[in-house]
Amino acid sequence: MKNITVIGAGTMGNGIAHAFAQSGYSVNLVDISADSLDRAIDTITKNLDRLLSKEKISELDKNNTLSNISTNTDLTDAVKDADLVIEAATENIDIKLKIFKQLDEICDDNTILATNTSSISITKIGSVTNRNDKVIGMHFMNPVPIMKLVEVIRGKETSDSTTTTIMKLSKNLGKVPVEVNDAPGFVANRILMPMINEAILTLEENVSGVEEIDTVMILGMSHPMGPLHLADFIGLDVCLSILEVMHEGFKNPKYAPSKTLISLVSEGKLGIKSGEGFYDYSDGPRNKKISSQFK
Ligand SMILES: NC(=O)c1ccc[n+]([C@@H]2O[C@H](COP(=O)([O-])OP(=O)(O)OC[C@H]3O[C@@H](n4cnc5c(N)ncnc54)[C@H](O)[C@@H]3O)[C@@H](O)[C@H]2O)c1
Repeated sequence: MKNITVIGAGTMGNGIAHAFAQSGYSVNLVDISADSLDRAIDTITKNLDRLLSKEKISELDKNNTLSNISTNTDLTDAVKDADLVIEAATENIDIKLKIFKQLDEICDDNTILATNTSSISITKIGSVTNRNDKVIGMHFMNPVPIMKLVEVIRGKETSDSTTTTIMKLSKNLGKVPVEVNDAPGFVANRILMPMINEAILTLEENVSGVEEIDTVMILGMSHPMGPLHLADFIGLDVCLSILEVMHEGFKNPKYAPSKTLISLVSEGKLGIKSGEGFYDYSDGPRNKKISSQFK
């Protein structure tokens, strides 16, 4: 494994590109939006500068990492030498199935196709290809350069050899891979999303306020971040779509997304990335105050 193509240059795609490039892999970052690619390089540069100022990397590491990344809006060109493609495009099943169908047609037969999906079935994604033994989930956590976990998800047809390759590769990146089977929400989100949804219901039913709910979980359960702040960090649209997949997949009303989550997303309040969610980030992502809607 040397050449990695990452599809989607948003929150997760830029982090995945950063992590691979810093470990010496050659990364081709692809997006349909040239603006997204520019923003991604900007973010990666800022994150490297932060690591440099904390003396965690050298100036040479920073320059090498940046020179290991090239950007592209043309998928066919970006995958021609890829040993592995990691898809981190928008969490939407139609978009993902279309990308995997196309990848199967244009990639070398030996290329492994991974997806960073938070909730969509790996088996279903693999089924639109003629190589479902080489389709696997590689679920990174946000922020990717810092978070150690990679949930490695086996679809029904994923081969042992593909799984072993991806487990090894994740370790080479300095991550800790955990193998899990394909089921709605996998392990991480199956446990996390009902907690976030319950925190929103607790707010909705006026049991307590935004800051109070987050404080209970930080101080009472030793969570580094409260569930409402974490939801803003993940993206409220991402949380909603994961809950919808779990609700649909398990046919169990306990996964039904709360009304407040649905209405915030429909108002375009998506959390940190849009500037407002349960908190207001108009003074920057690190200066949160409670959104006026929840005061
Ligand atoms: N945000 C999180 O905390 C988190 C954590 C783990 C996994 N994920 C998963 O990672 C994936 C990406 O999430 P995100 O939060 O980075 O989303 P995002 O909205 O920040 O970025 C998505 C990017 O995909 C691009 N895109 C859309 N269609 C495309 C296509 N056909 N080809 C190439 N690029 C395309 C968009 O232009 C955008 O830049 C999703 O599957 C999500 O479920 C997200």
